[in-house]
Amino acid sequence: MRHDCVDGSSSGASRRSFARFLAAGAGLTVLAACTPEAPGAAPSSPSPVPESPSPASAAAVESTTAAAEPPAPTPVPPSAAASLPGKFSLTDPASPWVVVNKHRPLQPADYAPADLVQPAVRLAVSGEAALLNSTTAAAAEAMFAAAARDGVVMTLASGYRSYSTQVATYNGYVAARGQADADTASARPGYSEHQTGWAFDIGDGGGACSFQPCFADQPAAVWAKANGHRFGFVVRYPWMFHPITGYYYEPWHLRYIGVAAATDMANRGINTVEEYFGVAAAPGYA
Ligand code: DAL
Ligand code: ZN
Repeated sequence: MRHDCVDGSSSGASRRSFARFLAAGAGLTVLAACTPEAPGAAPSSPSPVPESPSPASAAAVESTTAAAEPPAPTPVPPSAAASLPGKFSLTDPASPWVVVNKHRPLQPADYAPADLVQPAVRLAVSGEAALLNSTTAAAAEAMFAAAARDGVVMTLASGYRSYSTQVATYNGYVAARGQADADTASARPGYSEHQTGWAFDIGDGGGACSFQPCFADQPAAVWAKANGHRFGFVVRYPWMFHPITGYYYEPWHLRYIGVAAATDMANRGINTVEEYFGVAAAPGYA
């Protein structure tokens, strides 16, 4: 069954924009998220790490057409967030507004939050991966509880990752998929939001679609996408915004930026923190 993508990624302008992008020789490998049955989805080696469309499920297909097209980046002022009353650093990893991407590594690279705690939520992991920074943990508790009140099961599937854990995670991807493909799904060590404690991956307790493209259609992901901003969260790697974020769609990866900023982003229809905070797109490593 085909899974429809519902975030407005099919405007004519978007198609033309993406066609130009491809014509420019970008040679993107386009993830067939939302089409789990896509060619190439045959089983293969298990994913070595959490947070992945596995090498099989990623179902990456070379696209030479404009069949899957991103919306044009939303024109925004240098920083749409400038209108908010509070301001936070975009570079301090302890700041809720830190923007970490392929152009913006963590500084220091081995940063570790000082306030890691385990949130009182349904856990699908243990140990380090069950930790978040204290602000994110409190917001997650509120969000998970609200989801539960709406009858939606949500689990914490992958939280904090130390630098050394990200080394193993990323190396696992490279071993399984090769570096170019790994870089579409897993951050290099020192470049992952998971290391800040501001980000985590959700599951739904079922597992069938965990870290799979079809997770986008599961109640947990649908609910989080619609409601996450009320608790300060954004879906950090939206569908077809990889030319800006550097990563294919991860409907499971939520990032805390605070209720005011997340709500403002949602109200303005801005899809990425790069656009919202007015920093450069980071499709690849500098
Ligand atoms: N999957 C995200 C990009 C990470 O590895 O942090
Ligand atoms: Zn993640």
